[in-house]
Amino acid sequence: MSPPPMNRFFLKTFGCQMNFAESARLKTWLVGSGFEETDDPEKADLLIFNSCGVRRSAEERLFGHIASLQRRKGPRLFCLAGCVANLRGEEIFRTHPFIDILCSGSRLSELPALYFEAKEKGRASALGEGLPSFVSSLPAAQGIFCPVSITKGCENYCSYCVVPYARGKLVSKPADDVAAEVRGMVERGIRSFLLLGQNVNEYGRDVKDSGGFPPLLGNIAAMEGVLRLSFLTSHPKDTGEDLFLVMARHGNINRYLHMPIQSASDGVLRRMNRRYTLGDYERTVASARLLVPDISIGTDIIVGFPGETSEDFDETLRFLDRMKFEDVFIFQYSERPGTAAARQFKDDVPPAEKQRRHELALSLQTRIMQRKKEESFGTTYEVLIERHAEKSAGHLIGRTLMGTAVLFPGNGSLGPGDLTTVTVTGVKKGYRYGEMRQEKPSPCPPSHQSVLERLSSRTKRGISGGGNE
Ligand code: 5AD
Ligand code: SF4
Repeated sequence: MSPPPMNRFFLKTFGCQMNFAESARLKTWLVGSGFEETDDPEKADLLIFNSCGVRRSAEERLFGHIASLQRRKGPRLFCLAGCVANLRGEEIFRTHPFIDILCSGSRLSELPALYFEAKEKGRASALGEGLPSFVSSLPAAQGIFCPVSITKGCENYCSYCVVPYARGKLVSKPADDVAAEVRGMVERGIRSFLLLGQNVNEYGRDVKDSGGFPPLLGNIAAMEGVLRLSFLTSHPKDTGEDLFLVMARHGNINRYLHMPIQSASDGVLRRMNRRYTLGDYERTVASARLLVPDISIGTDIIVGFPGETSEDFDETLRFLDRMKFEDVFIFQYSERPGTAAARQFKDDVPPAEKQRRHELALSLQTRIMQRKKEESFGTTYEVLIERHAEKSAGHLIGRTLMGTAVLFPGNGSLGPGDLTTVTVTGVKKGYRYGEMRQEKPSPCPPSHQSVLERLSSRTKRGISGGGNE
């Protein structure tokens, strides 16, 4: 007798770091539940679209993609998962009748059951908050790297942002669970970890007697086998000296802080409900650079927020020029349904003007990054090797403590998970290019495409300038 056919799934992820981490976890879960993954949507029985609703453009890309597959849908089931499913709810079944399953980000563990229910009844949905357990349980490792979600949800209600509505209230993963997760992963050969939360600096705010984020970061950094530790994202209002002191104390914590400013105009920041001023932000950066001298800082800005005048925008340009960030993600404001900004303000900056501001900010930042790249020539960095380069035979790709990807020729004996030092000599294929100086071999598992690399492909320029390998 032949074995029963496997149910095959195809998973496509849109949007943010959280989504990529959750998708990685979902894959583990589905495979463990008897499904098989395929990278060919035509061969799948279940197509899952893990969606992001933060910006309208992401939502449009999502629906465009689903529509392109829908024409030859056949018996395959389509599942819309994540933020957009939660935000739009069962109305989706009416507006997009070819979608069979809706599943919110917090209930992904229910997907196997939803699949069989939809096969039987035609449709199934699990929206809203589910059991918080899924967030903490499953590994999302890729090669030597693993993102670890430490919080879910957000209650900051920045006026433009849909996340508090899509992902619900702040829930912190118990510190013991975070440590156990990391320990388990170290035992499996993982060497590099990324602690993830919408605002990691609020970690523990929902728990009585929690020490907060800096002690958690310090404890994980002190664990044996953790060679690299990074974290995303830091809200400026909650970021300060206690964090920088922990970073300064632990040489394996990435010298990288991603701290979105959004705008350098105090008036715009007030209407965004960000709860800090430009002066506060600049003082925090000064403190970071004082306590962690080799730190790289990245930020996000939104151009064309309602009421943003040319003067407001010029303020932001001058700020970018002054700060010389390692990377800047630039977004054009898009009105999101249900948010305070959508209710209170008119989306009054014309699209062409948003585009103009976007291009101006981008070209300024591109010049700054080019200069930074050139300044790095001749400098030697400690590099954690992440993977073999796919398009350059015999080459390796590693990351500096600042989170910058470096391409360099291998020597046959070092591989992913090993630390080495590399002197940067130039630029190749979008990467800083260098030569290995010193070997510090340590045993580790095989090559991978790091999640950080994929996360960084979410915009034209990656987190600290990824290349195109
Ligand atoms: N429009 C444009 N950009 C947005 N972001 C969040 N919401 C919006 C919106 N409505 C950007 C912010 C945030 C990043 C993840 O996405 O800059 O930091
Ligand atoms: Fe959105 Fe603000 Fe929360 Fe970030 S801190 S997820 S921008 S509400």
